Amino acid sequence: MTTYTVDTNLSPVSFWAQPRQVHLDAFKWLRENQPVIWNDPPGSLDPNLDNAKGFWSITKYAHIKEISCNPKVFSSADGIFIDDFPQLESMLSFVVSDPPRHTNFRNIVSAAFTQKNIKKMEERNTAIVRSVIDKCASLGEGDLCQLITKEVPGRIFASYFGITDEDEIKYVMDLAEQFGAWSDPEFAHIGSPLQVFADASSRLSEIALRHAEERRKNPSEDLMSWVAQAQYEGQRMTVEEVGVFFALLAGAVNDPTRHSAAHMLWLFAQHPDQLAYLMADFDNRAEDAINECLRVEPPVMHFRRTATVDYELGGQTIKAGDKVVMWYLSSNRDADVFDRPDEFDIRRPVKQNPHQAFGGGGVHYCLGSMLAKQMLRAQLWEVHTRLKNLEVGERTIMVSNFLNGVMKMPGKWTPEKR
Ligand code: HEM
Repeated sequence: MTTYTVDTNLSPVSFWAQPRQVHLDAFKWLRENQPVIWNDPPGSLDPNLDNAKGFWSITKYAHIKEISCNPKVFSSADGIFIDDFPQLESMLSFVVSDPPRHTNFRNIVSAAFTQKNIKKMEERNTAIVRSVIDKCASLGEGDLCQLITKEVPGRIFASYFGITDEDEIKYVMDLAEQFGAWSDPEFAHIGSPLQVFADASSRLSEIALRHAEERRKNPSEDLMSWVAQAQYEGQRMTVEEVGVFFALLAGAVNDPTRHSAAHMLWLFAQHPDQLAYLMADFDNRAEDAINECLRVEPPVMHFRRTATVDYELGGQTIKAGDKVVMWYLSSNRDADVFDRPDEFDIRRPVKQNPHQAFGGGGVHYCLGSMLAKQMLRAQLWEVHTRLKNLEVGERTIMVSNFLNGVMKMPGKWTPEKR
């Protein structure tokens, strides 16, 4: 009899360079045997840095909910990734903070992302998706990531911030890609993972500084004008703070949404019967379908907290100061919550699909969940009504412990006649 041993050392980059099934097997074993486990330090992001702390890996749904809903004990102020990004984490603005500072800052922008406002944006966002498909429908083949999934959130983000110059839109999209892919070999030529991240965030901030100054002089209707005028703790944000905020949103809007869209196209290519079922009654079935894609392929694999006091969880004592990493890639397949957790099934009703792709609840729950779903819905419809006989090739998965990213994915379809 052969014994199959599961690698549960989630720390090294080499672990994340393996096929995704290896990670899913490790998480299944951990959920069943050691749901709260200590992992060694991840290794340094940069030869000049000491990134020497290990971390707790949390793999069960209920534990992630408990942590997410308790920001007093589990703070975001010391960082949100496994890896430490000294100084740079402050660049992630309110995400890396706790209430009350977090609440005040988040409130500045949350109004832009309410259901009412997102609904108002629907027509414009759908027109953007349509224009992206218009550009590639006649080609008949190409990389679906470059042609579609990267373009949609990139152009919607640009429209929110009033960026209209074509070269600048592309530049921001490329920087957002680099921002989330710090450990992928694609960007290794720039330097260490830390340098890749720092380079992208400082260049994004530079763009924002320019626009923020301009909008303070000549405000218009876009989000940049709103943020540039907004009051925070009785004062307007400095242009530097606006820059940081812009870099944060560029990453938050572009990266998870594009990766989710790519997984979605791939999943439906593997399950043509479910695609047919969806398209037969799109209006009533799209919401459940999108939730199921997000459950099976959450684009954000982890977020981190740091314990502020000693805390008992899953039979382990988490010490004050310990890093605590919540693995959504794992919790979304927790058999205590989801029936047939490894099966992709868009017939799963929403009540039975309370996935954690947007977080485990609590104050940091994704601010853009409604916008993200709107973008995904519009793409799902446009792609499958316009790109006839679409064939989707294999995904090139990003090497990352943070994003479940798709760098490339070839596609072929019957070219639309112009
Ligand atoms: C499919 C797409 C997306 C996924 C899966 C996703 C997922 C997440 C997750 C897991 C978190 C962390 C939650 C936590 O710590 O408890 C988060 C936070 C956040 N997301 Fe998203 N996100 C997506 C798209 C977006 C979009 C389109 C926006 C645009 C506004 C956005 C803005 C944010 C912000 C600002 C935060 C930080 C919230 C805070 O700390 O208060 N996200 N997202």
